Amino acid sequence: MTVLHDEVLSFILGEVFQVSVAVLGSLFHKHFGEKEHRENMEKTLKEIIRQRRTYYAIENKSPVTNTEIEEIIRLAVTYLPSAFNSQSSRVVLLLNQHHIKLWTIVKETLRKMVPASAFERTEQKIDAFAAGYGTVLYFEDQDVVRLLQTENPSYADRFPVWSEHASAIHQLAIWMLLEETGLGVSLQHYNPLIDEEVRQTWELPGSWKLIAQMPFGTPIQEPAPKNSNPLEQRIRIFT
Ligand SMILES: Cc1cc2nc3c(=O)[nH]c(=O)nc-3n(C[C@H](O)[C@H](O)[C@H](O)COP(=O)(O)O)c2cc1C
Repeated sequence: MTVLHDEVLSFILGEVFQVSVAVLGSLFHKHFGEKEHRENMEKTLKEIIRQRRTYYAIENKSPVTNTEIEEIIRLAVTYLPSAFNSQSSRVVLLLNQHHIKLWTIVKETLRKMVPASAFERTEQKIDAFAAGYGTVLYFEDQDVVRLLQTENPSYADRFPVWSEHASAIHQLAIWMLLEETGLGVSLQHYNPLIDEEVRQTWELPGSWKLIAQMPFGTPIQEPAPKNSNPLEQRIRIFT
């Protein structure tokens, strides 16, 4: 009888607890608003790695504020690793007319190079990036690379390579953090064609070498499924 009573009591307490959690959750949402609720629902790192894709079809909207996008950039640049902790990576966030200006530079640069008959396709591609919400530019500061080479001559030929690795680490982390907010992202390489004009337009130091351009915006079309080659060819595990 006592055992049954205890079971019933623990069942009731369990139900009360679940209802309380649900009520608290909804109060939390109401009290702290959408942003905190979204933070509470943040995806795990594994989920983001599984879901991250290249989005070419994007529009000029963002599910998060500009401040949140800026925070993502600051977080990444503060905490990501670099060879010898050299912190050679430089990141530029372009929003509004700055984002449009970048893709105008790309388009007008390519217009001078691509045959007129093939330009329509190029133009459509560039316009699709321009239709997004913003672009992140990735640079590596060659002054930092050169200083490392002088100070550590035995590794001199490694530093430019490690600098590119550091940039890639920044690119992927920011790609995943933007994707986690609901933004669609892609990675583009119109450098070195646009380097000089980009440097002049935003008055960036001459030592900053452009590595990549990352347009982003709210996705308007899901990417096609992609294949994954057999893991047996790509991973070897020894235990
Ligand atoms: C180092 C690197 C360079 C890339 N360069 C470009 C590029 O210049 N243009 C482009 O459209 N996509 C580029 N991509 C995106 C890849 O094409 C894309 O990641 C790949 O096809 C896998 O698709 P997913 O990103 O949807 O998983 C690049 C990706 C990486 C990792």
